[in-house]
Amino acid sequence: MHQSIRFFQEGLKNLKTVGTITRSSPFLCRKVTDMVDFNQARIIAELGAGDGVITRHILPRLHPEGKLLAFEVLPQMSEHLLQIDDPRLIVVEDSAEHIPVYLEKENLQQVDYILSAIPFVVLPQELSLNILATCRDVLRPGGLFVQVHYSLLAKKLYEETFGNVRVHFVPWNIPPAFVLVSERI
Ligand SMILES: C[S@@+](CC[C@H](N)C(=O)[O-])C[C@H]1O[C@@H](n2cnc3c(N)ncnc32)[C@H](O)[C@@H]1O
Repeated sequence: MHQSIRFFQEGLKNLKTVGTITRSSPFLCRKVTDMVDFNQARIIAELGAGDGVITRHILPRLHPEGKLLAFEVLPQMSEHLLQIDDPRLIVVEDSAEHIPVYLEKENLQQVDYILSAIPFVVLPQELSLNILATCRDVLRPGGLFVQVHYSLLAKKLYEETFGNVRVHFVPWNIPPAFVLVSERI
């Protein structure tokens, strides 16, 4: 079955976790990954990796010695991530607030970039705030937190957590999307 149809079915069944029924378009994936300086980046965390559509845009550009930790809570989604054969990819079938546990396991201290498609708008606010505070703690100073959204409802969460946020609009996605970028000061 085509990946987009499978994603549609899983999105519909788990709307409160997935937050959408469509995976990110190539334009949106490109916009998200264009926020990364791949010459500098070594450690990237991807949150809410789904079936790996953004993951597959990151890996071809990732440094040969880089590492990508991809977090995904739904096994129906992560089974696709586990099929990606790349030694730099670490698939984590766990919730994103546990990033520090997996960094420690991999002997890593900090993360250069966090790319997230977690639907913070539909998650309980306490969980969202908890994940975002963890992200701020594990990002290196100057590191970027990059978030995909379909509205600006959650923009204040990033302003409150990071003290800054830039908004980019991506019309070529269903639905049209925003990419919000905050810097860890
Ligand atoms: C909007 S989908 C994005 C999927 C894919 N990255 C894309 O861009 O098409 C959001 C994903 O976040 C996952 N997710 C939701 N809460 C999560 C959490 N606490 N930790 C990790 N992943 C989570 C969902 O299962 C879903 O696969």
